[in-house]
Amino acid sequence: MAGPLPEGRRPAPDGSLPAGITPNVATPLSADVHVPYCRVRCGYCDFNTYTSDELRGSRRDTYVEVVAREIELAHRVVGEAGGLRPLHTVFFGGGTPTLLPAHELIAMRENLASRFGISDHAEITTEANPDSVDLAYLEELAAGGFTRVSFGVQSVVPHVLATLDRTHDPERVGDVITAARSAGLNVSIDLIYGTPGESLDDWRRSLDAVLEWGVDHVSAYALIVEEGTALERRIRRGEIAAVDDDLHADMYEMADDIFASAGLEWYEISNWSRTAETRSQHNLAYWRGHDWWGFGPGAHSHVAGARWWNVKHPAEYERLLTSGITPAAGYEVPTAEERELERLMLGLRVSEGVAAGAVNIATVTELVETGLLNDEAARTGQLVLTRNGRLRADEVVRRLVETSD
Ligand SMILES: C[S@@+](CC[C@H](N)C(=O)[O-])C[C@H]1O[C@@H](n2cnc3c(N)ncnc32)[C@H](O)[C@@H]1O
Ligand code: SF4
Repeated sequence: MAGPLPEGRRPAPDGSLPAGITPNVATPLSADVHVPYCRVRCGYCDFNTYTSDELRGSRRDTYVEVVAREIELAHRVVGEAGGLRPLHTVFFGGGTPTLLPAHELIAMRENLASRFGISDHAEITTEANPDSVDLAYLEELAAGGFTRVSFGVQSVVPHVLATLDRTHDPERVGDVITAARSAGLNVSIDLIYGTPGESLDDWRRSLDAVLEWGVDHVSAYALIVEEGTALERRIRRGEIAAVDDDLHADMYEMADDIFASAGLEWYEISNWSRTAETRSQHNLAYWRGHDWWGFGPGAHSHVAGARWWNVKHPAEYERLLTSGITPAAGYEVPTAEERELERLMLGLRVSEGVAAGAVNIATVTELVETGLLNDEAARTGQLVLTRNGRLRADEVVRRLVETSD
């Protein structure tokens, strides 16, 4: 989770939903389990994650028991509001969830299954560092009900990995992907482009590797230089070059062309998939504004339009839960205006786009004429970004919001 927590309103100590918030059981419900541990911190990353000397007494080996308390609380709160339903997707993210033994991830999955139930064919994913798993670990996960693994690969080029402070051996990634497949897991990989010093040829090497591995799903993110990270300090001191935004656009277009030629179709600004079935059902749930409960320190939840977020430090998270108090630090119920902004921001990210609703028709026409919105879709009342539009999505949203009634 980036930066400090938002302010928000103070939640009820027992975690009950704000007055007037009633879940709709027809809306799919997902679980997002944050595992806030990493062996070392990568220089570009500001996720809410802790290395072993930053844990202030909280312990990794009791994490499953602490999360079990939040699962119990969530089950009670959602049950009291009449919103219980089987989980549509479960996602273990981090941090590095695979720093925990496989049986602990499985125990958390089983706990969620026994409280909420899990839908047939539900997608159960864990993120993983390529150097944190082997065949036996992946087979154990698959036998324990996991269906998908998402590897943080970022690049295959050693000098790019070094600038990012990544410790994994790029030569090993192909083997780990093969192992995951032979264990019966769907495989996704994360890439980062636009690292200082990365050339278009370097980026092409990472893209070629993706084709060679034949994965069914890829996320490719432009490097964000987050405030307060080691990367930001090194750029500020002039030790490494700043990020070049024009190069970002060229790299995005290169990725989109290469993926498309290999049968990986874009379905969200930063995501490409071989088929509709291999799209990330969990991320689609976010983009479609479904309900999810975020478990763990710093995790965010979204249920029936209300949003809340947990305290960030694992020690504080543990202290609250063991005292029988919700770990939520704040909550908010967005206004109609904020909900509309969110609807446009999230809906425009996906290839199916979003219904035009109350946006200004003249602005839509202008965005079609400047090549940022798809003409054909606009004529049927749907807003869909063109490829140029994907590169300038924030600007498109801003213009739509500024001019809507
Ligand atoms: C929680 S990490 C993935 C799992 C694992 N911790 C790892 O790094 O391999 C989620 C993904 O966010 C992306 N990411 C993190 N920080 C980023 C940044 N500053 N800019 C762009 N992408 C970033 C990376 O692609 C990373 O794989
Ligand atoms: S391993 Fe992943 S979560 Fe951990 S610091 Fe690196 S990018 Fe962030």
